[in-house]
Amino acid sequence: MKGVILAGGSGTRLHPLTRITNKHLLPIYDRPMISYAIESLVLAGITEMMLVTGGTHAGEFLRLLGNGDEHGIDRLLYAYQDRPGGIAEALGLAERFVGDDGVLVMLADNIVEHTFRPTVEHFAVQGNGARILLTEEHDPVHLRHLGVPELDGDRRVTRIVEKPEDPPSTYAVTGIYCYDPQVFDVIGTLEPSGRGELEITDVNNWYVGQGTMEYDVLDGFWGDAGESIDAYYAVNDFVRIHGANKT
Ligand code: G1P
Repeated sequence: MKGVILAGGSGTRLHPLTRITNKHLLPIYDRPMISYAIESLVLAGITEMMLVTGGTHAGEFLRLLGNGDEHGIDRLLYAYQDRPGGIAEALGLAERFVGDDGVLVMLADNIVEHTFRPTVEHFAVQGNGARILLTEEHDPVHLRHLGVPELDGDRRVTRIVEKPEDPPSTYAVTGIYCYDPQVFDVIGTLEPSGRGELEITDVNNWYVGQGTMEYDVLDGFWGDAGESIDAYYAVNDFVRIHGANKT
């Protein structure tokens, strides 16, 4: 299984900090944010990965990560997204790298308390389709900023609604996704959303429609440090006290 870490975007929700750096290079406790995503993939057994970034600070990732040796990576490739065209468009840049393998995709501003290795193992057993990681979230205000699944009570996702006015469950879709190689054909069929982006939620809903979407519920803390400045500090506070990527 290959890994793709998405670290692009213009980071407008963290302006003005992100005028002078890429959001994913900002510190979380004692390390740049991106290093938590790298660590989480390595701990999940994924050591071939592509980092997709964009914007004006791409060179800093090379300075930090080099060829990945010091981080336990066997093969590290980089791709550059010319414009912020959405998560699904960024993933599309990894098509040739992923080839006929499965892929774990992670948004580099997502931080987890516990390793998601079990999800990677479950996906290996699942064999094809897609698998998402959900986190329990009871605050409707927070859910309105995220993707929210509708569940049928029988371990099936019936649809995912992006940034819903009226959240259909008390779970959020995290930015950690497993796909079979068909994902690249799906991305090719997408139309830009209202915010002008190719949405990962549209990709996920395609798999829901095929009946091949499965999920796990994440154990412990999950945070999206790029969601707002308050979320950024909440993630920092959590990691400083409790740590991240625990096995
Ligand atoms: C993205 C996804 C959303 C998901 C979130 C998790 O949102 O579109 O479904 O819940 O990441 O971090 P964005 O950060 O692009 O607003």
